[in-house]
Amino acid sequence: MSKNSSGEPGIDQDRRNLVFATAGVTALACIAPAPATDAPAANAAPAAPPAGAAPAGPFSLPTLPYADGALDPVISANTLGFHHGKHHRAYVDNLNKAVAGTPYADMTLEKIIAATYGVADKLAVYNNAAQHWNHSFYWRSLRPQGGGVPPAALRGKIEAAFGSVAACQKELLTAATTQFGSGWAWLVQDGDKLAVTKTGNADSPLVKGQRPLLAIDVWEHAYYLDYQNRRADHVNAVLDKLYNWGFAADNLSAA
Ligand SMILES: [Fe+2]
Repeated sequence: MSKNSSGEPGIDQDRRNLVFATAGVTALACIAPAPATDAPAANAAPAAPPAGAAPAGPFSLPTLPYADGALDPVISANTLGFHHGKHHRAYVDNLNKAVAGTPYADMTLEKIIAATYGVADKLAVYNNAAQHWNHSFYWRSLRPQGGGVPPAALRGKIEAAFGSVAACQKELLTAATTQFGSGWAWLVQDGDKLAVTKTGNADSPLVKGQRPLLAIDVWEHAYYLDYQNRRADHVNAVLDKLYNWGFAADNLSAA
């Protein structure tokens, strides 16, 4: 994958990707910044973009929080490479093109999503902004050697809402497998309670005033190279082996 050789900054380095300002949601601790080990000094001259790089813009592709092959065999390095390096990158590049010269170029990602949701002639801006947000969140929803037992505080909320962690996972599986066509399944915080929801295409729980805790991408590009049409097998494996309950717990604690 080219992500580490492209010179693109990490997720923490684009504040527009991180500030959570959507109506009904107050803070985006949901995407906790990663260590900015390669951040330039504050007074350093900006580096020239590499040859063949996408046009400069306010949004950037986040660096994955794990190695390309770290999620194998549930998600292969090949799938991860295409998904992150091609699909997610395309959303970022298209968003930068769509906002160039518009007031959106100076907005946070979340404000763009809120401002363009349901606006017919802003569909391209909305779709690419929402998909950039969704994917940035999705990468953090997974971790190598994930799954297992959620942290105590989160587990208590899960048991209060669903009865058990297993029942929560079953609802997530149902949401993921009954989403018709492309979309997402989510564990969200809705008021004081946890809930499972699903959204089509680029849509996000953000526009419903819900706080995302974890996401599952059920677009075919997320699994088809590894599982072909077996979406349920992919989702079950993600829930059992990759789900990042600690990330969800961090999101809860920031609520
Ligand atoms: Fe995706």
